[in-house]
Amino acid sequence: MHRIGIAAMLVLSSCFLFLTTHAQQQPRPAASDNTASLPSCIPHERDALLSFKHGITSDPAGLLNSWRRDGGHDEQDCCRWRGVRCSNRTGHVHKLRLRGNYEEGMEGKISPSLLALDHLEHLDLSSNHLAGPTGRLPEFLGSLKSLKYLNLSYISFHGSDVDLSTTVDWPHVMNMLPSLRVLRLSGCSLASANQSLPHLNLTNLEELDASQNSFNHP
Ligand SMILES: *[C@@H]1O[C@H](CO)[C@@H](O)[C@H](O)[C@H]1NC(C)=O
Ligand SMILES: *[C@@H]1O[C@H](CO)[C@@H](O)[C@H](O)[C@H]1NC(C)=O
Ligand SMILES: *[C@@H]1O[C@H](CO)[C@@H](O)[C@H](O)[C@H]1NC(C)=O
Ligand SMILES: *[C@@H]1O[C@H](CO)[C@@H](O)[C@H](O)[C@H]1NC(C)=O
Repeated sequence: MHRIGIAAMLVLSSCFLFLTTHAQQQPRPAASDNTASLPSCIPHERDALLSFKHGITSDPAGLLNSWRRDGGHDEQDCCRWRGVRCSNRTGHVHKLRLRGNYEEGMEGKISPSLLALDHLEHLDLSSNHLAGPTGRLPEFLGSLKSLKYLNLSYISFHGSDVDLSTTVDWPHVMNMLPSLRVLRLSGCSLASANQSLPHLNLTNLEELDASQNSFNHP
């Protein structure tokens, strides 16, 4: 996964990459019922979320208003915080959906404290201004081992464009992800795509976009 981390994480403005795997959607508990059966949060995961919040310098839409250390028992339960979903079996945070709306998006940086959420399967930070002071896509995102869905669209990471031209083995790397459903590698300076795969594992692949690359072969 780490090599994919390096390749896939180089997602900049001209290169949109989505990794969407065949995750089972869990029905959301209705807001009004079930509250008793909601899991309560794991303390070190709450600390990690609060550290993430610490990296946010502006939150005009108040997405993180419910993320508080003080307050009553329920307020401290990070599984009840906005955008946070925990597994109802283990209590681990498995989903963070903090999609902004760009004009009012959060500003700041993506804190590496998220690494403590080692059961995180779904991370959506899209449409926020989270490129941070360096503007670079944080490499640690490649170490989130349970991740199945990552959406960093419109965060405006920048650098010297995206150059995956030396990443010649990308088809093999992707072939290690049998659950991969959508792969968009448009405009990533990919140079080759003619590798033969002895065994094609990508049985769930529905969409592959490799447009706007300059392949050095037919
Ligand atoms: C936990 O989630 C599973 C899968 O969504 C669901 O089938 C089950 O009913 C839930 N259990 C509780 C106690 O909410
Ligand atoms: C990613 O998020 C954007 C909104 O910020 C949304 O339009 C897009 O559909 C999402 N992509 C995927 C693959 O879910
Ligand atoms: C995918 O297929 C290759 C052969 O091309 C095999 O070596 C590899 O173990 C497979 N990986 C997975 C994750 O199934
Ligand atoms: C892929 O294309 C490049 C450039 O034309 C060529 O050198 C290489 O041998 C090709 N590889 C395969 C597996 O066909």
